[in-house]
Amino acid sequence: MADDLFKKLVSHCKENGFIYQSSEIYDGLAAVYDYGPNGSLLKNNIKEYWWKSMVQMNENIVGIDSAIFMHPKTWKASGHVDAFNDPLVDNKGSNKRYRADVLIEDYMAKIEAKITKDVVKAKKRFGDAFDEKQFRETNGRIIERQQKIDAIAARLAKAMTEGDMVDLKAQIEEYEIACEVSGSKEWTDVRQFNLMFSTQLGNIAGEEGKLYLRPETAQGIFVNFLNVQKTTRQKLPFGIAQIGKAFRNEIVARQFIFRMREFEQMEMQFFIQPGTQKEWYEHWKETRMKWHLALGHGQEKLRFHDHDNLAHYADAAVDIQFEFPFGFKELEGIHSRTDFDLNQHQELSGKKLQYFDPKTNENYVPYVLETSIGVDRMFLATMSNALVEETLENGSTRDVLRLPPSLAPVKCAIMPLKRNNEELVGKAKEIYNQLRYSFNCMYDDTGSIGKLYRRQDATGTPFCVTVDFDTLEKGVVTLRHRDSMEQDVVPVEQLESMIKDNVDMKHLFKKL
Ligand code: GAP
Repeated sequence: MADDLFKKLVSHCKENGFIYQSSEIYDGLAAVYDYGPNGSLLKNNIKEYWWKSMVQMNENIVGIDSAIFMHPKTWKASGHVDAFNDPLVDNKGSNKRYRADVLIEDYMAKIEAKITKDVVKAKKRFGDAFDEKQFRETNGRIIERQQKIDAIAARLAKAMTEGDMVDLKAQIEEYEIACEVSGSKEWTDVRQFNLMFSTQLGNIAGEEGKLYLRPETAQGIFVNFLNVQKTTRQKLPFGIAQIGKAFRNEIVARQFIFRMREFEQMEMQFFIQPGTQKEWYEHWKETRMKWHLALGHGQEKLRFHDHDNLAHYADAAVDIQFEFPFGFKELEGIHSRTDFDLNQHQELSGKKLQYFDPKTNENYVPYVLETSIGVDRMFLATMSNALVEETLENGSTRDVLRLPPSLAPVKCAIMPLKRNNEELVGKAKEIYNQLRYSFNCMYDDTGSIGKLYRRQDATGTPFCVTVDFDTLEKGVVTLRHRDSMEQDVVPVEQLESMIKDNVDMKHLFKKL
């Protein structure tokens, strides 16, 4: 069922110009995707919502746009050269490559699925009297399975934190995990695989000229910390925000745009006085959750998940997980990064990255609170939350994309009642030419009105305007609402202000 939903979402994205496989005519490039006309508009709107909620709505957050290429020492300092690894293992039967931790996670998910099956069965048997919590806490088989999951999760976290490749292999063998392609349980040793893509500078040979495509945008912020602080005269606490591409040579490429090799991040580093990190960690957890909830994602779709194993730079870290069609998964990370990065850059560059605090008359290296979210993952969450197949009163169905109006790619479609009536076509084009000064709209006369409405529903257009004979005689149009499908008669001169007000992002900002 969930699988069908996900397949439907992927094909909806393609058929409606949201997302295409990259280089599709050459059979595609795995884990790389292109955004189509509607996709690029929606993606830009998501970025605008994030950017403005950070930079426009906070006087102590400023934005930058740093380069993808950085001095190679950056990645030595940040720890990415030595520690940005995934544990990789090959199956000897199929030669297929896997992430060892993902194999173990999938094994846990299978046990979890058995628990869910038992719960669903019991629910059916007991009907309204069923108490799921009590059932989970008292059913012997479920308790045993849950204990097994908890023990595997703890052992996996320990092996990952300690970089214990030998134990990861031992676990795969102990759980008798088989390759999904060959069915073989024969595995190579588990080894570390660095996720950074590298390339070579034209004029310097060897290691010296080795450049990396940035695996996160954050380091462009750290190395510019003093430049920004001095040129904007910001006082602590203050933040620097950035949106940009990041690249990771992911071993496991699946789940559509969830895990990509080229993707975009929206990151904000908040520089604070050492010792205040706990309170800012709580602040940003709450603030970021509000940002998601303002979009109308129900609270049941979102949850916090504390990291089981902390990254090399963090003293606390939590994910905001979203319930994707394939389960709850990480959408955003909030990390207390201490002074790790700035200290490292100080050491390797030999340049001071300290802040003079006028309140305490001291120089110190600030601590950092980071919020980091993938644009593409946010896109997937937004699409999967919005796409609904509705059964109408007459028994027919419609696919409707219930996007928040301010994120919708097109805000209004204008269509003449009859496409071969010159007067109606002329008037509809005149209205379209007026409205497009204010927001993104489109003119369409390529089908019957009913068909055109369905097409706009599928791409999330909140309003359709139909130009009919009353428009010519009385200056009124029919304004049709996407979600309710209700239709109002509206004077042409009121259209612009009505739609503009409805699709304005300020409604989202006011909820933050
Ligand atoms: N600067 C911290 C950092 O990069 P991360 O948890 O590795 O932390 C942050 O990544 C966010 O970037 C994730 O929560 C996710 O939304 C997104 N992300 C990471 N890897 C991704 C990938 N391969 N494809 C798409 N999005 C990804």
